[in-house]
Amino acid sequence: MAKLLVYGSLNLDYVYQMPHFVQPGETLLSLSRQTIAGGKGLNQAVALAKAGGDVYFQGAVGKEDGKLLLDVLKDNHIDDTFVKERDMPSGHTVIQIDPNGQNCILLFGGANHSHTHEEIDQCLSHFGCGDYLVLQNETNDVDYIMAKAADKGLKVCINASPLNDAIYKMPLDRCEYFIVNEIEGSALVGEKEDADPYLILQKLKAKYPQSSFLLTLGSRGSLLSLAHDDKVIACKAFKVQAVDTTAAGDTFLGYFVEQMAAGVEPSLALQRATAASAIAVTRKGAVPSIPSIEEVLAFLEEHESTLVDKL
Ligand code: RIB
Repeated sequence: MAKLLVYGSLNLDYVYQMPHFVQPGETLLSLSRQTIAGGKGLNQAVALAKAGGDVYFQGAVGKEDGKLLLDVLKDNHIDDTFVKERDMPSGHTVIQIDPNGQNCILLFGGANHSHTHEEIDQCLSHFGCGDYLVLQNETNDVDYIMAKAADKGLKVCINASPLNDAIYKMPLDRCEYFIVNEIEGSALVGEKEDADPYLILQKLKAKYPQSSFLLTLGSRGSLLSLAHDDKVIACKAFKVQAVDTTAAGDTFLGYFVEQMAAGVEPSLALQRATAASAIAVTRKGAVPSIPSIEEVLAFLEEHESTLVDKL
């Protein structure tokens, strides 16, 4: 069984239910506030683990405020050998949720930006050819671990989020899987955000011919294109009542990568990932919204397949 290593963020999400997103210059009373475990790295690791994976985490939290985050790793049987406790605050976010369940997120890096090359090398020495490395862009030195892991034969998966200059400095041609939304995908190939998703895929494939791509399109669904295969697998999103979309993308990624690593047929992996993220948006918060594999399989029993020839 391949080992699944996540090098990523652990965030305390301060989640505010709002009548609407705060506008420039506006002071707005929130309806409620909760502190919830999150961070793209942690969310993805929990999804990988709930899907059934053998998951390891490299990350860092603050000594004083990191307990909630460390408990999530333990509760989900994620190996925390490579998680450090620092004399600095944990990463955190301020998340506004509007009445439609949409969010906007302010991110503070904190301990997520404290990793050294020595720590990365030491962690990677425990992994080898055929293991998976899952990356997002909420930690420092993602470019470094990406190159080092690829040199060792790990299958590197990049979720190019949040999209900023650091992404463009990464050796992206070393990645086996890109999991990107249409904004990230179009930016990587210099296209407009509203470009035809099939064109975005085509351009991504031309730019990174060794890689596979999972292009997520929100409520429209997703497109999967595997390396050295011209076929595009299309999957519509399930129609559900969204209460909070936070971590839906992370849930999707975690389920998809774990299922591919486990040798599940790609279209089934895509369908299960789609179901997992559909369940996640019907629940509040990041980590608490991620369903178990049993819930995902039960959901699919109750719903028709959403795999289609074309979106
Ligand atoms: O993808 C959702 C996550 O993004 C939240 O949990 C928040 O921590 C931000 O990192």
